[in-house]
This record gives sequence, structure tokens and C-alpha cells, in this order.
Amino acid sequence: MTEKEFIPSPYTKSVLSGKTTYKSPSNIALVKYWGKKENQIPANPSISFTLNECATVTTVTYERLNEPSNSFFFDVALDGKVEGSFKPKINTFFERVYQYLPFLKEYQFKIETSNSFPHSSGIASSASGMSALALCLMEIERNLNPEMTQDYFNQKASFLARLGSGSAARSIKGSLVQWGVHAKIEGSSNLYGVEYPHKVHSVFQNYCDTILLVDKGQKQVSSTVGHDLMHGHPFAEQRFHQAHENLLKLETVFAEGDLNGFISIVESEALTLHAMMMTSQPYFILMKPNTLEIINKIWAFREDSKTHVCFTLDAGANVHVLYPEDEKTQVQQFIKDELAAYCQNGQFIHDFVGNGAQKIN
Ligand code: DP6
Repeated sequence: MTEKEFIPSPYTKSVLSGKTTYKSPSNIALVKYWGKKENQIPANPSISFTLNECATVTTVTYERLNEPSNSFFFDVALDGKVEGSFKPKINTFFERVYQYLPFLKEYQFKIETSNSFPHSSGIASSASGMSALALCLMEIERNLNPEMTQDYFNQKASFLARLGSGSAARSIKGSLVQWGVHAKIEGSSNLYGVEYPHKVHSVFQNYCDTILLVDKGQKQVSSTVGHDLMHGHPFAEQRFHQAHENLLKLETVFAEGDLNGFISIVESEALTLHAMMMTSQPYFILMKPNTLEIINKIWAFREDSKTHVCFTLDAGANVHVLYPEDEKTQVQQFIKDELAAYCQNGQFIHDFVGNGAQKIN
């Protein structure tokens, strides 16, 4: 699919008003997206587990304007309260996607959104939030053009979500989603995420992710600024190359259920992401002392218990603890006994790999 194919044919139905709701999950990258080109094109391919519990529910109510307008009419509410601070981001998103969704200037919208995870938990809501909004907009488009296929619906939802936030492209479907062109992954695209097309061993089914809330403060560096720092970064080309290599290695790891191979790629990806931030200009350290304490505890526990617990990080201090479902009892006990103490207010969230977004009736 090319960008042009996402420009809709003239709408065949006329709809005066309606309401649609989607629940869309967050995701956790195993091979990280860090660095992008114009129009939200990733500098390297990435892959993530779709999560189940951490999600955004968004309802879009829409009513046709008497005549098409020159600007966008919408209000946004978070947890039932009007949230003016979200408007500029959504306006920019509407501007970016307008050519693909021309109905945006024909209706007024009410966007109501809420997250399952605590606000300002340091968990990025852009992936779940932007994908939920993109799905609602696609549902409206499906009402206007009912003959569209489910594949087109999903692809375009991911395409639109990407234009809102890159990682959101990976939140439409589960359970393992790849975004960005990779020579060995057929169907992979820079424009939208695809379900991982190769064999995945059953040990990765229901894989667990416990998110340790180490620092719930404001993000020190926005992801937009962070991605930008990869332009002219001294190690950028090598890093982009490494992401391609790691995806190739993961093919065997997933097929064979090689947990040790999985650990070494996933932890290295997390540390490389932070190494890129520490070696950019300006430079950042987004880990906190407790992030390092947790990493050391995980390594010691893994050694002693012979389990396959490992960690990954996003662009912040929180730690995602990953482990297979059949080690859940032991690892969750360890988290409670030894890691919770390093979390703000002892807070953590147990999550696991899910199947993607859902329409809510
Ligand atoms: C570190 O998707 O938040 O989580 O496209 O600017 O919205 P924008 O960036 P965003 O970047 C996420 C980066 C990451 C790694 C990842 O999820 O792959």
C-alpha cells in the first residue's frame, strides 16, 4: 500500500450524526523505534508486544455541520473533564490526516477519553490514545464508505495512528507487531504496523509484562525532541543497522522459543536506547538510581532462580519486567518482595500480551 491508497474514494453514504467507542492498548517495544524522518517515517524497523491491561478508551460523538468548514470543530475531555491542553496536539493530528479523512471538516466532534492506567504514571498514553482515536475515525469513515474491507480498515487505522504518534501504529492488532520496512519481513511497511508474519513459539504466548512505576514525574524530554536528536547523532547509522540485525536474530528466537536469546536482544535494545540519549547533544539520563537498582536485582534474581525474567525500558525511568507465563508465580512474588520498594508509592501494574484494539458497543 502507498500513501495515495489511503485517500478515500468519494463517500457513498450520508450520515448526520453518530457515536463510536474503541478500546486500544499500549504496547512495549522489544526492538526500539528511536529516530524518524519526515512524515513519521521511522529511521529503523521496530517490533512490540501489544499489551492487554494498559489501554485507552475513546468515544467520538459526531454531528454533521450545516456546511463544510475551513477548520476543525472538536472538544476533548479526559475522564469526563474538558481538557483544553490536548487540543493543539489533536488539531495538529487532524491537519496531518485531513487529506486521508476529508470528513473531518464536515462534522463537529466530541472526543472523550480515559486511560486504564493512572494519569501521570509516566506510562506513555500516546500509543493507546492515538490508536483509539484513529480507530474511532476509521469507524466513522466505514459508515460513510461501508464497502471497505477489514484489512483496509486495520491498515488505515494503523497508518493514521502513526501520523499521531509513531509507536501508536503498533497498537491496532496483537500480539506481536512490526512497523518499518525490513528486507526479510514480507509485507513490512514504514506506513503502518503488520502482525508479525513468522512463526512464534508458544512460550511467548501470554508473555507477562509488569510495569514498575519508578518515576511518575513529567517527561524530561518529549519523544519528538528525543527522536530529533538522532539527526546528526554520531552513532545513528550503526544503531539503525543494529535494529535491522536484531530483528533478523529475533526470527530464530521467536521460532525456537529461545528465551536466553530473547533476553539478550531485549535488554541490549533497552540499554542502547538509553545509550543513544546519553550520547546525543544535548544529552540526557532518563534512568533514575532506582532504575539501576531494579536492573541489578533482576540480574541477580535471574541468576539465582534460573528463571527467564528480563527488563526493558522506554524513554523514561520506569522498568518493564518481562517473563514467560509459566514463571509468573515466582517472578510476581519476587516483584512484590524485592522490586516494589523501588517504585513510587510501591506502585506497579501487572500486564500481559493482548490481542489488540476492540470496538466497544
Ligand atoms: C522509546 O511513538 O512516542 O517508546 O512518533 O514522536 O510520537 P512519536 O514518538 P513515540 O516514540 C516511542 C519511542 C519509544 C520506543 C518504541 O516504542 O519503539
